This record gives sequence, structure tokens and C-alpha cells, in this order.
Amino acid sequence: MNDKLSSILGEASQVFILTDENVAPFWLPEVAHWLHCDSAIDIVIKPGEQHKNLQTVQRIWKTFMKHHADRNALLINLGGGVITDMGGFAASTYKRGIKFINVPTTLLAMVDAAIGGKTGIDFGGAKNQIGTFADAEEVLIDPVFLSTLPRREILSGLAEMLKYGFIADAKLLEINLENYQYYIPLAGEIKREIVAQDPYEAGLRKILNFGHTIGHAIESHCLTTDYPLLHGEAVALGMAAALWLSVKLCGLDEKVLHDFEKQLPMLLSEAEILLSEANIEPILGYLVHDKKNKGDKTQFVLLESLGKPIWGVEIPEDTLRVSLEYTIINKVSKR
Ligand SMILES: NC(=O)c1ccc[n+]([C@@H]2O[C@H](COP(=O)([O-])OP(=O)(O)OC[C@H]3O[C@@H](n4cnc5c(N)ncnc54)[C@H](O)[C@@H]3O)[C@@H](O)[C@H]2O)c1
Repeated sequence: MNDKLSSILGEASQVFILTDENVAPFWLPEVAHWLHCDSAIDIVIKPGEQHKNLQTVQRIWKTFMKHHADRNALLINLGGGVITDMGGFAASTYKRGIKFINVPTTLLAMVDAAIGGKTGIDFGGAKNQIGTFADAEEVLIDPVFLSTLPRREILSGLAEMLKYGFIADAKLLEINLENYQYYIPLAGEIKREIVAQDPYEAGLRKILNFGHTIGHAIESHCLTTDYPLLHGEAVALGMAAALWLSVKLCGLDEKVLHDFEKQLPMLLSEAEILLSEANIEPILGYLVHDKKNKGDKTQFVLLESLGKPIWGVEIPEDTLRVSLEYTIINKVSKR
């Protein structure tokens, strides 16, 4: 344990560990022991995006209050992006903010969600509508946690790692199921550097949304069906659409799109996807509500070339519809 971590833990008046029912049996006792806080108060919630909501946050706040947590209490968020997002939000709002540490246990959280200070919950049927910017005191990354993570979740994280390959460092486009662990530090470093330059998403940080505008719309739509997609799977589809748009509108070399088309079946190999032409209008409907929109114009991150993203691109609805047709009909239905 490093000195900073020891002093954060040593100064805490009380330690709480937030985790979910899938992670707890594998890792809760180990992590409590590793961090020398066996007497921490555990808060174990139900897993999944559907529990990233105000009701669960209330339960966390009530546990803090029940144990008379003061402003020097510490929360350890042990889990995937749902836990780090929601735990960060609960901690950053309780008594105007207590300290928290993130211990990400999914690949997606290790390279993305646990880093960069965005916390939040879903509200009113839309993702991440309520939240804060609040930095974790420490983010403890250890690939050992991935040994118990289902393959589908690993693939979801790979999609986010490929995103960094498109927007920042093409080395990350070489990742696969065999070598990805080697690239975790590089992916995290890319996110940290972008966030350091633009912590509140005034401009540059928007490039992290590459593939996410359409991805979130597809994710939101699929959540209303019997076949929800994982975040990274929806982002993979969103990136396919964004690359197609980049070729059409920004002169991106078509080879980048074709190379990604070869990776897409692997990324979606564990997903049940029943999207068809009938789903295009509902997905377009979600795009209008995307929180990154200005007025009624949807704004996108596209690529001029590898490592050269541009943000704030407005796209006519008809062109968007064709990009969805390309993604959903050609790339999903014909898998
Ligand atoms: N704040 C940000 O900057 C940011 C960035 C990207 C994504 N996110 C958010 O992250 C969330 C998605 O994160 P996620 O993909 O980690 O999902 P998740 O937290 O739901 O975890 C995925 C599943 O894996 C299980 N799990 C976690 N670790 C495990 C382990 N080591 N072994 C076995 N099972 C394990 C969980 O219980 C869950 O069922 C979304 O809510 C998204 O909005 C936030």
C-alpha cells in the first residue's frame, strides 16, 4: 500500500465499502483485508444499470446516516462503472462531499468509468442525468479482478479501449482478447491526460464521447426490449456509425472503417441483438434527447483521421438515419 493510500485510510473517521452482489462474494473480504479495513461497513447492492438510481443512492445515504458518518468518513467503491459512478455521486453529495476511493473491477471501469471525476445516476428514463464532477482520492487498478469477470463484460471493455485507439493512440487498435491487459495502463493514461486538459468538458473532453452519442441511443432503446446491450456493445455499434459518418463527411480513410468491421463480430459475439429497420426511428428519437445536444441539433464527435477527432459536428437527420441503416441493417442483421 502506498503512503498516500495509507494516510487516506488512516485519516478516515469511518470506512464504508460499496459493492454489488456479484462482486462481493469474490472480492469484498479480500479487498477489505488488503486495505486493512476489515471492520468497514459494507453496503452491498443489487447489480446492474437498473439499480443506478436515486432509490439506491438514498439507501447509501441512509446507511451513512445510520452509522453517524461525518465529513471525514471514506467510501470505497468496489465494482464496475455502476458502482464507481453511483458511489462517487453518493459520496460527493453526502454532507457536501466525503472522500472516496475507486477500486474498479471491470475492464470498462479500469480504463474509463473509474477515472476522470464524472459521477452520476440515471433518472427519468435517461442515463446519467443527475451527477457531479468529483475526483476519487485514488483509483486502484489491478487486473487480478478481471479473473472473475464474464467474457461478455471483457468484450464490452475492449470496445472502450478501441475508442482510445481511434481518438488518440492507434496502438490500442491492436488489442484483442489475448493482449488487452498489457494496454490497460496506456488506456487509463490517455483518459487522464484528456481529462486533465479539460476537466469539465468545455471542449476537448468531448472526444471521449466518440461513438457514444449513437451508442447511448441504441443502449437506451435496447433497455426497453428483452435484449438489453452492455454499454461497450452499444458503444461498438455507435463507433461503427461514427466511423461511417466520418468517412462520408470528414474524409476518413475507408480502411479504418473496414478494419473495424472485422473487429465488430468479436465485440458483439456474446450479445443477443434483435435490431431491425423498425428500430431506427425509436433510436433516432433518443438521439434528440441526448444530453450532448445543443438546441435541437445533435452534435457528434467524428474522425478526420486516426488520432484526429473533431467535436461539435452537426449532422442532418437524414444522414444520421442512413448511418443507422448501415450499422443496424448491414452490420448487425447480417452478422
Ligand atoms: N463516469 C464515467 O466517466 C463513465 C464512463 C464510462 C461508463 N460509465 C458508466 O459505467 C457503467 C458501466 O460500467 P460496467 O460496464 O463496469 O458495468 P457494471 O458496473 O454494471 O458491471 C458489469 C457487471 O459485472 C459484474 N462485475 C463487476 N466486476 C466483476 C468481477 N470482477 N467479477 C465478476 N463480476 C463482476 C457486475 O456485478 C455487473 O453485473 C454505466 O453505468 C456507464 O454509464 C461511466
